[in-house]
Amino acid sequence: MNIKNNTIRSFNKVFDKKYLEIEGGELLKGNIKISGAKNSVLVLMAASILSEGQINLFNVPRISDVLIMSKILGAMGMNIKTNSNHLEINTEKISPPSQDLFFDLFHALRVSFFCIGPLLARFGKARIPLPGGCLIGSRPIDEHINSLKKFGVIFKYKNNYLSAKVTTPNKRLLGSSINFKCKSVGATETLLMAASLAKGTTTLNNAAQEPEIIDLANMLNLMGAKVKGAGSECITIEGVETLKGCDYTVMSDRIEAGTFLIAAAITRSNISLYQCEPNHLKAVINKLELCGCKFEYSKHFLRIIPNQILNSVNITTSPFPGFPTDLQAPFMALMATTNGTSEIKETVFENRMHHVKELNRMGAKITVRDNIAKVVGVNNLQGREVIGSDLRATAALALAGLSANGKTIVKGLEHLERGYENFSEKFQEIGASILKK
Ligand code: EPZ
Repeated sequence: MNIKNNTIRSFNKVFDKKYLEIEGGELLKGNIKISGAKNSVLVLMAASILSEGQINLFNVPRISDVLIMSKILGAMGMNIKTNSNHLEINTEKISPPSQDLFFDLFHALRVSFFCIGPLLARFGKARIPLPGGCLIGSRPIDEHINSLKKFGVIFKYKNNYLSAKVTTPNKRLLGSSINFKCKSVGATETLLMAASLAKGTTTLNNAAQEPEIIDLANMLNLMGAKVKGAGSECITIEGVETLKGCDYTVMSDRIEAGTFLIAAAITRSNISLYQCEPNHLKAVINKLELCGCKFEYSKHFLRIIPNQILNSVNITTSPFPGFPTDLQAPFMALMATTNGTSEIKETVFENRMHHVKELNRMGAKITVRDNIAKVVGVNNLQGREVIGSDLRATAALALAGLSANGKTIVKGLEHLERGYENFSEKFQEIGASILKK
């Protein structure tokens, strides 16, 4: 779906309400506690559908996507209790979703589509809305569908709904050998969950290797699954009959941590992160070191010390362990302020450059051709009123505002609240002049 930037601006102008007001130029200092990972907790919540017992999730970030996923599970009869960063999920009264409860919820949250694997594994059938594409790309689901077909599932499409049914004897998924055409985090997670209750053994080849996959496998194994090789390109799962409840602590959010590292670099500030996982950020740390930042770190702690003059470096996004696509936009904001010219190549999503126009309105010098951005660093960005179009683009504009001369208004705060817990409050704690309005 290729929406022109000005369409996005006009759409957001009508619908955006909340915004950030940032006074640029402040030096940041202090420590930041990194929250639980959005891109893990949502899938762990979907995996709770597989459990016969209660699931307790800890270190859950308080973000709007978790609220929507809680509503989706609630609509299936599951009982969800929230207490600060703890989610108690009870599946005793779970039943297959009824279609009219779902449409709006599912369309509000793409990752809800990952419920299809657990629903098929648990009930032998599922009927859920087709996930739409979004601003960053068409977001196909062919890898999910083609792989589930090998497990004995047939699909029907009608009025934007996808109906799926297991056609094997006794309606139990049949483990199979799967060769993914491309590295897909979501498809790997869907098949991991489906295979954990399937009959027989499953191998997933060309599996995604993101840390969130390991987090999911760790929780499934605590529930009694038999998953081996998560984090490598080949994962084997030996199906079991049932899965029990468990207590699980969500991994630290590597994208939030990377966002704060880039914020420190763009403001040339020394800050420390704790409750983070430096080994999830090797590709990002490597690029920031090439720019001229030094690091001190231990197992769950990271301190960044940027030089006053930072150099431009090139990046190409790619699946883990490569440079994460989710930090492409924040890193581009940094490259807009460094010494020299950088090339930023986006290889994961076809349309993830919406932040360029808004950064250029702040005085950046960025041109884009064939998903490659050429960024000529400038001495100072200028504060402006800008509009974020998605979660990471909005974060990038906020980071640009932290370093710009004067005041920046960043509209589209609802995007940030989807995936960053207490975004503006955490920046205030380390000295940023940033207000939520
Ligand atoms: C997950 O999305 C993350 N979301 C995304 O984070 C992240 O950008 C992405 O992985 C890549 O790391 C969650 O985990 C909730 P993919 P997912 O399937 O699973 C193609 C954020 O900002 N593909 O790995 O949907 C697809 O078009 C969000 O936090 C197929 O071709 O991503 C894309 O080009 C944004 N067929 C590539 O694979 C399929 O069936 C990667 O997509 C599935 C995907």
